[in-house]
Amino acid sequence: MIELKNITKEFSTPRGRLTVLKDFNLKIEAGTFLGLEGKSGAGKSTLLSIISGLQKPDAGQVFLGQPPVNILTLNDKELSAFRNTNIGFVSQEQSFLENLTVLDNVRLPAYLAKKPNNVMLNTSTSSARRLFQHPSKEIPKQVRNDFDVKITERALNLLESLGIAGLAKSFPRELSGGENHRLLIVRALMNNPDYILADEPTNSVDAEQTQAIIKIFRRLADEGKTILLASHDKEALKLCDISMTVPGSDR
Ligand SMILES: Nc1ncnc2c1ncn2[C@@H]1O[C@H](COP(=O)(O)OP(=O)(O)OP(=O)(O)O)[C@@H](O)[C@H]1O
Ligand SMILES: [Mg+2]
Repeated sequence: MIELKNITKEFSTPRGRLTVLKDFNLKIEAGTFLGLEGKSGAGKSTLLSIISGLQKPDAGQVFLGQPPVNILTLNDKELSAFRNTNIGFVSQEQSFLENLTVLDNVRLPAYLAKKPNNVMLNTSTSSARRLFQHPSKEIPKQVRNDFDVKITERALNLLESLGIAGLAKSFPRELSGGENHRLLIVRALMNNPDYILADEPTNSVDAEQTQAIIKIFRRLADEGKTILLASHDKEALKLCDISMTVPGSDR
């Protein structure tokens, strides 16, 4: 469950004070796939960053989970632990650690969370699994214990589901814009978060991959995850359960 109560967010700009959200209320039940529409500058990204705890509103409350946690009352350490475990945030401003491979960038959030039981295993036979098991691919040499095995298998399965398993040993700088974007989604899903906030996740991705991304979100919502998708892409928004228009500023 996500509940926003009387959220107001303003920015100081060279042209004066800009009110992006004013007394904004929203309640989303678990398992909802919600599309966020609205013109450029309306406040979609601002809204997602407030829900994820990256930005604080000037007024109002943000509740997540059951029982609800008011994330604005958490200290920095609590908030980053909460975010890493519960929220998968896909934003175009995010980047990767350039000296780590694609696979290691995906595994990193799991090591930061260090909760082996949270990692779900997909035991189906897949090409990601074969890649993992294939001795010539070197990955098993890096595997030290069961936790590593589970993490690695989950990471490879996710990479495969987004069509980039073949890039596991590449470095982020070697990826195209669309591949980079799909990698952001994989990393956001790694810790199996209950809340997935995706800010224009289908930008710079072709029509086939757009369908693949939306299908993954659809499946996760059907499993009970709460998905928020900010997008200008009408085809992507069509597949949401409901969509709402972020009203926009007073400018
Ligand atoms: N840190 C900031 N300082 C000043 N103004 C800001 C800041 N962040 C956002 N804004 C302004 O707030 C408004 C909402 O921005 P936001 O990025 O949330 O819009 P958006 O709906 O995501 O737009 P788009 O569809 O183009 O991504 C814009 O007018 C933007 O210029
Ligand atoms: Mg935006």
